[in-house]
Amino acid sequence: MSDKLVQKLFETSDLNDTELMTLLESDIFDAGLRRFADIVRRSYYGTDVYIRGLIEISNYCRNDCYYCGIRRSNRYIERYRLTKEEILNCCEIGYELGYRTFVLQGGEDNFYTDKIICEIVAEIRNKYPDCAITLSLGEKSYQSYKSFFDSGANRYLLRHETADAEHYAVLHPPDMQLNNRKKCLLALKEIGYQVGAGFMVGSPHQTTQNILADLRFLQNLEPAMIGIGPFIPHSQTPFQYFENGDLRLTLRLISILRLLFPYALIPATTALGTIDPLGRELGIVSGANVVMPNLSPVAVRKKYELYDNKICTGEEAAECRSCLNKRIASIGFNLVTHIGNVKDKKADVVQV
Ligand code: SAM
Ligand code: FES
Repeated sequence: MSDKLVQKLFETSDLNDTELMTLLESDIFDAGLRRFADIVRRSYYGTDVYIRGLIEISNYCRNDCYYCGIRRSNRYIERYRLTKEEILNCCEIGYELGYRTFVLQGGEDNFYTDKIICEIVAEIRNKYPDCAITLSLGEKSYQSYKSFFDSGANRYLLRHETADAEHYAVLHPPDMQLNNRKKCLLALKEIGYQVGAGFMVGSPHQTTQNILADLRFLQNLEPAMIGIGPFIPHSQTPFQYFENGDLRLTLRLISILRLLFPYALIPATTALGTIDPLGRELGIVSGANVVMPNLSPVAVRKKYELYDNKICTGEEAAECRSCLNKRIASIGFNLVTHIGNVKDKKADVVQV
């Protein structure tokens, strides 16, 4: 019975709701899921693991998400924002280390007007025409997304967080609406970005039914990238007393995602590495194929604390790079930096 369900998922890249719930709610399928996820990943991506340099440009945020350590109500963190020169310096260091994708992530910080973001993006595009530029700056207008795209950005990460409106309202204050999040994701797709969506595993009051809704939402959206990681409490948020998201459930979900979305770029996240010393390696073994080491200046790393005890806040970019090299090699995979094209059966050709 157990093998049959996983086999069906492997063969058809889909299951009905009852079948998916069965997989989500039990650990008896985990070994089979991992085995088949590995087969699928190897057939699409071999043993390649893609590396993206994460630059955390600002921890100012106008939003107040209840789970997030840099929410505007947290008066106990020291705020920072990087200048254009500092961001370009991170790219320069990253380029030297072999990175060919830069991810500019930050809180929703109005200091960076569209004009400033466009200038930064255009300068990176001009200096590094062979690199992908990914933005992860939250909810913006269609026009803003379009202007960033026209300046040279080609990917955008915006986790939907939860596809259930009631659950969304538990995680966010009333001025944030799931509909707007969805509208943003659709706008990004329409403009032509490669879009990344995703959610936290084990966020407060999340049910298995919520996770099922997340998977269905992602099937509709067909994003190029899917980022999931465990929820981890932050001591200065209303969710400080909630538990970490479960490691095994996160790994199970990575395998299920790989089987539902064979072509997807799925990161083994820093949050996964934070709840278990080998979390990222386990993520890769379970079907993930992306890692996103930090390129931010060490002086600001600790200040971008979305959750408690975040790892890799003390190391220089070069140390992170070689540490990950060793970790990924130790499980029989290899970090690749080039941008190549992967033939994709379902969506368009995905540039990795
Ligand atoms: N402002 C942008 C946005 O909202 O997409 C990017 C920054 S936001 C901090 C990036 C992601 O961090 C969120 O999408 C969320 O899923 C994750 N995150 C925030 N707080 C977290 C927590 N306590 N545990 C795990 N992940 C968290
Ligand atoms: Fe804005 Fe977390 S509340 S980035």
